[in-house]
Amino acid sequence: MTPTVPVAPAYVRELARYVPGKSIEDVARDLNLDPKGIVKLASNENPRGPGAAVLAAIAAAAQEATRYPDGNGFALKAALSTRLGVDAAQIVLGNGSNDILELAAQAYLRPGDEAIYSQHAFAVYPLATRARGAIGVEVPARDYGHDLARMRAAITPRTRIVFVANPNNPTGTLVAAAELLDFIASVPPGVLVVLDEAYNEYLEPADRCDSVGWIARFPNLLVSRTFSKAYGLAALRIGYGIMDAGIADMLNRVRQPFNVNALAQAAALAALADVSYVDASRALNQMGLAQLAVGFAELGVEFLPSHGNFVLAKVGNAEQVYQRLLAQGVIVRPVANYGLPEWLRISVGLTDENDRFLAVLGSVLDSVPMSVPGR
Ligand SMILES: Cc1ncc(COP(=O)(O)O)c(C=O)c1O
Repeated sequence: MTPTVPVAPAYVRELARYVPGKSIEDVARDLNLDPKGIVKLASNENPRGPGAAVLAAIAAAAQEATRYPDGNGFALKAALSTRLGVDAAQIVLGNGSNDILELAAQAYLRPGDEAIYSQHAFAVYPLATRARGAIGVEVPARDYGHDLARMRAAITPRTRIVFVANPNNPTGTLVAAAELLDFIASVPPGVLVVLDEAYNEYLEPADRCDSVGWIARFPNLLVSRTFSKAYGLAALRIGYGIMDAGIADMLNRVRQPFNVNALAQAAALAALADVSYVDASRALNQMGLAQLAVGFAELGVEFLPSHGNFVLAKVGNAEQVYQRLLAQGVIVRPVANYGLPEWLRISVGLTDENDRFLAVLGSVLDSVPMSVPGR
């Protein structure tokens, strides 16, 4: 029978859409709540709001909104190149770092190729892989984090990309620098290692690795970073990748000519210069993680120590706990789609938001049967 509409390839029809965290507006509308009373701890955003210099840069750039943006991102790449000690030709800007992950997949994966990622790793890796008709190879996690030895063993002649999230979302696990370096050194040079460092700026300096410095030794390494998290620009969609200039050339061939808008470029330039904003965001996050750890301990809730701006907590009947939290205006993230049906991911908020979440969680856990085994 002739189809009545064009039929997408099976590998597209079989994709499960990415489900983002619910927005404050969604919840206010669906549950008839006052948006001002809703706390959103669901998308690993920076709870502080943008800094003054960023707001001024956006306002100034808005004056030129009739013009196309700089498709080559000259000013931002120049600033990043100075900051990171790499050539501007090694930097690709993306519409969020998500765009960098997609561009890597688009440039390097053909139908039938394999890409490797860890169980419980960021949901975009399987999506970016399968959208090209490539085969996603999920390697079982070790202690909720990446098992790099097993990931290395999973490499075959058909492997084109290995994705590593460090720290990982949603588990918050971190692979130490020495282990990561050994792994990268062991990957065949024809396989691209995409090292996703979306939460890098939240790490204490002692926990960071010289991933960008490693690119000179390992030209098959691509490091992706973002302005969405510690820099606080999630709404603007801007991230970047650092890589060998030859690989950057390939990504630039497949990206849209104007993939990063002018307001985002201007805001990112201002945000990069505002070092104290990022430092204060990291300090606030450390305080929030400690606050949540104390709160979970008091409630008898198991959680995973996190290196990001979020934490996974084991609440048992997570779907029901999630719905009860929502009903009281607290939005967190269920992670059943990550193979973690008993857990919820909570993004670190402002101190009073974390307090509100813990108070509501306490009352919800008392009311949900089967929540938190042993409590
Ligand atoms: C591990 C990881 N990588 C990449 C991203 C993509 O972020 P963005 O596209 O906003 O840079 C996220 C967002 O949550 C993430 O958690």
